[in-house]
Amino acid sequence: KYEKIWLSFGIASLVFFLLLLGYGAFYKGTHPQSHAETIDPNHVEANVSFQPEHLGLNKIAENRYVVNIVASTFNYDFGKDENGNPVKNIRIPKGSNVLFQVTTKDVVHGFNAAGTNVNMIVEPGYVSSYETVLDKPGVYTILCNEYCGLGHHMMYATLEVY
Ligand code: CUA
Repeated sequence: KYEKIWLSFGIASLVFFLLLLGYGAFYKGTHPQSHAETIDPNHVEANVSFQPEHLGLNKIAENRYVVNIVASTFNYDFGKDENGNPVKNIRIPKGSNVLFQVTTKDVVHGFNAAGTNVNMIVEPGYVSSYETVLDKPGVYTILCNEYCGLGHHMMYATLEVY
């Protein structure tokens, strides 16, 4: 008699967790829609593709920049500096027109320069791009706002507008 009660309790909780999981997956699957308009794989400028020499900050004209970033768990690749060290800070003169192009090697990441209107979801196989004018000087923290694993909180860099 008691076994029956426990058995049905076990099945009921199993069904409950499966429903929760399904709801989670469904909710997550629909979540990126609000950012879909910022994803435009055709917007990649031919002269500043994701070649290693084009990673990070590219000056393409006076006050016009393209920043290429490859995200991966748990890093943003902005290329290397003249000493061969990974670039973790990019400096852009204020008033510049900047096109950010971000892609990811592995899972979904976020790319948010806190305090600016740069905020994208980055999906594997796509280039998320966002063009903006940075006219407020300051140091902005770039961080990942999509949970991507244990090192999620370690994904950051800085953007300096001077
Ligand atoms: Cu990358 Cu969270």
